[in-house]
Amino acid sequence: MDAVTAPPPAAVEIVALSKRYAAGTPPAVDQIDLRIASGSYCCLLGPSGCGKSTTLRMVAGHESASGGDILLDNRNITNLPAAARGTAMMFQSFALFPHLSALDNVAFSLKMKGISKSERHKRAGNLLERVAMGHLAERKPGELSGGQQQRVALARALITEPRVLLLDEPLSALDPFLRIQMRAELRRWQKELGLTFIHVTHSQEEAMALADTMVVMNNGLIEQVGSPHQVYNHPASEFVARFMGGHNVFALNDGLVAVRNDHTRISPATGAAGEPGIPAHVTDVEYQGTYVLLGLRLTGVRPERSGISVLLSEKDFAVRSYAVGESVRISWAELDARTLGPGATRPAGRSNGGPPSRNAPLAALAAMAA
Ligand SMILES: Nc1ncnc2c1ncn2[C@@H]1O[C@H](COP(=O)(O)OP(=O)(O)O)[C@@H](O)[C@H]1O
Ligand SMILES: [Mg+2]
Repeated sequence: MDAVTAPPPAAVEIVALSKRYAAGTPPAVDQIDLRIASGSYCCLLGPSGCGKSTTLRMVAGHESASGGDILLDNRNITNLPAAARGTAMMFQSFALFPHLSALDNVAFSLKMKGISKSERHKRAGNLLERVAMGHLAERKPGELSGGQQQRVALARALITEPRVLLLDEPLSALDPFLRIQMRAELRRWQKELGLTFIHVTHSQEEAMALADTMVVMNNGLIEQVGSPHQVYNHPASEFVARFMGGHNVFALNDGLVAVRNDHTRISPATGAAGEPGIPAHVTDVEYQGTYVLLGLRLTGVRPERSGISVLLSEKDFAVRSYAVGESVRISWAELDARTLGPGATRPAGRSNGGPPSRNAPLAALAAMAA
């Protein structure tokens, strides 16, 4: 491979990584493979319980792996203690010690290592300077704004000089306004520090805003890996299309397709015979400012797939508005339809890297029923 096209070194490589908390239960993480490029912002995204935190904790060394390997810059760290891995963790709502100053919060882990007070205060002070918090080093967390607390938490995580920063839902306890501000700051710090960030979130909006690479997880498996643009514009499966939102899924004769709701076309039903498009009626009209979101129900389609939405610009809606109960036709341009694959399936029979189980098909059925 020539130097120009060679991919950047993988900072983190996860190979067939599994976690089973208890025998007889399906694995929380099932033989996932993932490469995270050095210096990139990676978001693990998925619904609650899909295995995001378990994956992150295994990378951090706060949870043992049941099988598989974790490599950091080609070094196998799977069985190393957390402190020896070159990773650091930043927790939900930053988890600062309320009774300690910003400086002592940042210096805390050095104190645990027995480093002298003058040395640890010097290093903590330098880091606080680096995140533009030097002038507030003596303040306690309660005397700092949310944004300032986040910078202290960042400095505290960076004091161990990690190669990879791990963040588990760091913004989820913040109010929506602050959350949007804080995520812009996280993104800026990641680029400025040039570190690899792995950020767990259940919010697709947050992942889209932050990630170079998004990893969509479902039920202990990885459904799709790609840039936010790739994942949003080419969802791999019905799960991804629905989880990302903003898509309609249509069951056609030759399979499922996803169409973005801003690419889904609506026209008034004329009642003429052989009218093109799928018949539907409007169930909901929601004014959203720039857009108007129409809820619709397709006629003669199974209930679980009959609800769809159409996003119209305010301008288009002003030209031709729709009212609840109105009969319409739904269509789309061929170019805007994305063929959906079946989605990730459990690697039955290979669980935990062991020999194939005789009951693999049964296990797979049980997993599907769960
Ligand atoms: N310490 C634990 N003991 C047993 N089961 C756990 C433990 N932690 C998580 N789980 C289970 O593992 C699955 C994945 O959990 P988790 O990784 O926390 O998901 P997420 O972070 O995506 O919400 C869930 O079914 C959860 O109930
Ligand atoms: Mg979690």
